[in-house]
Amino acid sequence: MENEVFKVTGGSRLSGQVHVPGAKNSALKLMTASLLAAGTTQLENVPDIADVEIMAELLTRLGAQVNRDISNSTLEIKIPENIGHRADYDLVRRMRASINVLGPILARCHEVDVALPGGDEIGSRGVDMHIAGLTKMGAEFNSDHGYLIARAPKGLHGARIWLDIPSVGATENILTAAVLAKGETVIENAAREPEIVDLCLMLNKMGAQISGIGTNTISIIGVTKLTATTHEVVGDRIVAGTWAVAAAITQGEVTVTGVNPTHLHIPLEKLMSAGAQIEIANDSFTVRMTQRPNPVEIVTLPYPGFPTDLQPQFIVLNSIANGAAMVTENLFEARFRFTQELARLGADLQIDGHHCLVKGRLQLSAAPVEATDVRAGAALVLAGLIADGVTVVSGVSHIDRGYANFVSNLTSLGATIERTRESI
Ligand code: EPU
Repeated sequence: MENEVFKVTGGSRLSGQVHVPGAKNSALKLMTASLLAAGTTQLENVPDIADVEIMAELLTRLGAQVNRDISNSTLEIKIPENIGHRADYDLVRRMRASINVLGPILARCHEVDVALPGGDEIGSRGVDMHIAGLTKMGAEFNSDHGYLIARAPKGLHGARIWLDIPSVGATENILTAAVLAKGETVIENAAREPEIVDLCLMLNKMGAQISGIGTNTISIIGVTKLTATTHEVVGDRIVAGTWAVAAAITQGEVTVTGVNPTHLHIPLEKLMSAGAQIEIANDSFTVRMTQRPNPVEIVTLPYPGFPTDLQPQFIVLNSIANGAAMVTENLFEARFRFTQELARLGADLQIDGHHCLVKGRLQLSAAPVEATDVRAGAALVLAGLIADGVTVVSGVSHIDRGYANFVSNLTSLGATIERTRESI
């Protein structure tokens, strides 16, 4: 059997400039929000990643016509008056963000069948808060043969919803249902990630009445109809943060463009504590590092806390730091699974529940490793940049899900990396 792998030769210092595309975790949600209005939605700054393809397929099965122009990063989505209401298992299992069709379809059709996503590599990831919120708005839920079935024969109405934790997905599904519900919905303890702000901004352009955007209390006054619009996807803070760590661990100097640096406030502060110099501009920043990193303590939390999606990359940074640091993961219980792979590169890691004690080593040592999710995959490639020898990373389809042109971007910064096929 053949398998695609990345072969990374360690030892290069990264330098130059890299542009980040629109955020995966915004683009996918904006695509589902297009279902809320018949007509043509035009998205700009859409990343060239595998997940966008999967979402396009899902929308097509629901009756949309999706045209992608990779040369100028745009996506045109034509939504008919009547859309389908079923999201099949074969797509949902490939991409958990498919669950985000729940809110828009329920709002438009008053019925929806979505395959239950099940567990994945980073943990069980429930949907109980999605269900509780939409139930308060008048939906009735059942599960049948692996599908979550929701019906709202009398339509949805506004409600006051308090989330136990500020879940990104639950906030989004409630938002996208509430924009077409009767009356006012208030989401308390809402998530406030930049990607949620982006979604709210697009919905308001479509005619929604959302206020409290970017705060933890979002209020939505339902309207009867939305109109398709044009929207530019917010820059990907996680991809930007990944390049920032790559620059720091290779003692390089990299300018990252296409992202709002305030969306990375805490990770950039952490890199400064690690010894990097950071220059901030409006929609770019530069990371310069001239020393072995100092260890940095990390605690993942919902935004504006430290993002879980940058936790693996910072474990890599700590693995070559001049001391020990504790990394605490509060969002996804299985996100330390990749540390077993990182340990194969010689990293000194001790896991105790949701804590990982990382003791810095002078250098990592190349070995074959396997990516188990998108961020773990990116982190293992970063580890390969600072290992002696050639690290072979398999499971690259995980990396393709979230990082556009990963190899060519790294190559242009001076890394030695190739994508190739290998027998396994
Ligand atoms: N949770 C529940 N019940 C729910 C909803 C969530 O228990 O009803 C739990 C989850 O199991 C998890 C925690 O709450 O432990 C946080 O989940 P959240 O709903 O906030 O995350 P998500 O919507 O499933 C999105 C991103 C993730 C990112 C998280 C946190 C997308 C497609 N995914 O997931 O991104 O890590 O928010 O910021 O937007 C990635 O891009 O690599 C990725 C995993």
